[in-house]
Amino acid sequence: MTSLLILNGPNLNLLGQRQPEVYGATTLADIERLCEAKAKALGLAIEFAQSNDEAVMIDLIHKARGRHDGIILNAGAYTHTSIALMDAISSVALPVIELHLSNIHAREDFRHTSYIAKVALGVICGFGASGYPMAIEALNEALK
Ligand code: DQA
Repeated sequence: MTSLLILNGPNLNLLGQRQPEVYGATTLADIERLCEAKAKALGLAIEFAQSNDEAVMIDLIHKARGRHDGIILNAGAYTHTSIALMDAISSVALPVIELHLSNIHAREDFRHTSYIAKVALGVICGFGASGYPMAIEALNEALK
């Protein structure tokens, strides 16, 4: 069975309370339920994770090798800063979809740079929580 890691980075544990005008009212637990439903409909297995710690995220990416077929990554602000996360993705050689709730290109200039995009299969941003099931569908298609 195809298996996907859905990995969320810093501050995404506060979704629903955090800047709802930017990120919406949906909580991370709601998003996990959306992902479970989408995965079930497509016959996929998923592991859903969140960490505020860059090192923990790197370890989860390393552990995905041999356990998962692809990764959906909302790296939060580490998207714009972390060469280490970019290198972790290159190291495991799994297909990655970069995901953001907000349209990072319509926001501050510092959000226009993404280290993740340089090694990602594709990028989905600006569709709020709906981006997660979109990314699951896109990655599933890419893995066929
Ligand atoms: C985000 C966008 C990032 O720029 C920001 O730092 C986040 C959330 C998003 O999902 O829109 O933490 O990744």
